Amino acid sequence: MDDAIYPDPSFGAEDTALREAAAADPIGFWADRAAELEWYEPWEKVLDDTNPPFYKWFTGARTNIVHNCIDRHLSGPYKNKLALIWVGENGTDYKTYSYFSLNREVNQMANVLKAMGVGRGDKITIYLPRIPEVVFAMLACAKLGAVHSVIFAGFSADALADRIDDSESKVVITADGSWVNGGIFKLKDIVDEAIRFSPSVENVIVVKRTGHEVAMDALRDHWYHDLTALPIAKGDCPTEQMDAEDPLFILYTSGSTGKPKAILHSHGGYMVGTYTTLKYTFDIRDEDRWWCTADPGWITGHSYLVYGPLLAGATSFMFEGGPTYPYPNRWWQLIEYYGITTFYTAPTAIRSLMRFGEAWPNRHDLSSLRLLGSVGEPINPEAWHWFHRVIGKGRCPIMDTWWQTETGMFQICPTPSMPLKPGSAGKPFYGQVAEILNEAGEPVPDGEEGFLVLTKPWPGMLRTLFKDDERYVNTYWSKYPGKYLAGDSARRDADGYFWVIGRTDDVIKVSGHRLGTAEVESALVSHPAVAEAAAIGLPHEVKGNAIHAFVVLRMGYEGSPQLAEDLRKHVSVHLSPIAKPDWIDFPDKLPKTRSGKIMRRVLKARALGQDEGDLTTLEE
Ligand code: WTA
Repeated sequence: MDDAIYPDPSFGAEDTALREAAAADPIGFWADRAAELEWYEPWEKVLDDTNPPFYKWFTGARTNIVHNCIDRHLSGPYKNKLALIWVGENGTDYKTYSYFSLNREVNQMANVLKAMGVGRGDKITIYLPRIPEVVFAMLACAKLGAVHSVIFAGFSADALADRIDDSESKVVITADGSWVNGGIFKLKDIVDEAIRFSPSVENVIVVKRTGHEVAMDALRDHWYHDLTALPIAKGDCPTEQMDAEDPLFILYTSGSTGKPKAILHSHGGYMVGTYTTLKYTFDIRDEDRWWCTADPGWITGHSYLVYGPLLAGATSFMFEGGPTYPYPNRWWQLIEYYGITTFYTAPTAIRSLMRFGEAWPNRHDLSSLRLLGSVGEPINPEAWHWFHRVIGKGRCPIMDTWWQTETGMFQICPTPSMPLKPGSAGKPFYGQVAEILNEAGEPVPDGEEGFLVLTKPWPGMLRTLFKDDERYVNTYWSKYPGKYLAGDSARRDADGYFWVIGRTDDVIKVSGHRLGTAEVESALVSHPAVAEAAAIGLPHEVKGNAIHAFVVLRMGYEGSPQLAEDLRKHVSVHLSPIAKPDWIDFPDKLPKTRSGKIMRRVLKARALGQDEGDLTTLEE
């Protein structure tokens, strides 16, 4: 292990013991962790694996994740501890909430929703910027037993409409707008367009954030501040006692087809999983100020900005803006000013900040930091070392956490006492087992690349795809029966460390955001000039991957830089600015199999100047 970096040995003395105990008895390990939390009724069984892959955890138990995020802290020493510190995009707006005041806010939002008839099992779409109300809204839904569906507030009206309709949401919670690099992104306008024909939405709650004028439908739309001024908003709202397996949220994520998958997570297992992984991987301590830079619109924000930190009784820091506005020292300034101790971000952000040089972070005192984290895509060793040396001053271990929307919680990650290898996500978390398989399902020798699978169920796992059990089984459990197919390729080295290489399916990680080639393609073909389109991801220095699109035009259209620009804009407006292709090419036709499937693999190999591989199925 010559290439390993050894962290401070004072970290996590119990680590090895726990790792061994969990390996010997994973069920006992999870039962012990669950016992650290509170339950209205205890479980009969930790894991019910009688109907795989429909695993159930803590069956028979009654709980509510909000009871453990908030209620239980109100009668203990954390009542007056800061639960949330929020800083606005301009860097000067700020708000803080103790567990006591967070409870008041969540009760208020829950009372409002309840008055609108929201209860157990109802679906609520949340389309909000990174403001405290997004946290209140998620927790308020959970408190009532309603199921939230948070949509990243950078998705277009079309994408939002699909997700609202698919989830049959009764209520949409949004804001007038969000602040993006000093400008306003008009969220309410997007919602208006998205729900013009929506059959399910009865009410829209609008949080005032930017203050610009928006159209309000007198019957459907309500300002949140008007609602909270009503008597119905006052007082305690009881936390519903849920079954451990009751759904907590759905979160749409991209897969191999155009239709995003709605990943379903439940109260009990997700609660135990996020709590445990955060606590042990990041060695959460009472005095910590934890900053996860992700947006609550993605799984990282769900698990490690909102739920995990509150379950652990931590102080979670949330910043509305991005890292480089108005200057590339914004994050470092916030770390210094707020005394952030643990900082969890994405490789793409690190790479983009690296470009501005060391002078920006060096202007700030970053000595409060003690642990760093990375998520979303493989971190290249160069970025790892910069993060370690320039931000962590060589003192702070980096927890590179590999996981997915589906897994709900960390799966492969170091723990703070483990020697670290830059670029490797370390080893499976306590009690987990990962393998690297070849096409035939046999383990490959150490050092060789293969398909990454998880062989043991875990509490935070997805329970199914909302309304689509069959797709759940087919996508994750059918290639290798009994094993969870992650969709990534990876290697394991002789020391048992995992090195994740990237997706093996048609998912592209662009700046850590998960997008499907099919979604980009369907946005492209909705343009009148486009007959057919194929999208692929190609390596990009900062974004990790960038989208390249190949577009076959309809008769009468000719490829030009102007048309390419129009198409890029089209994707931005009809899917999301994050999905905008970097580059568009206009070939006469696309490489296809004889059965008509586009061979993206061939396009990729051609673009990279690599061997095109087996072309026997190519129709050309
Ligand atoms: C990738 C994000 C390498 C991977 C939490 C996975 C990573 C996909 C890492 C899931 C990491 C995430 N190292 N790759 N530390 N973390 N990935 O659902 O390809 O947005 O399958 O969840 O991100 O993306 P998702």
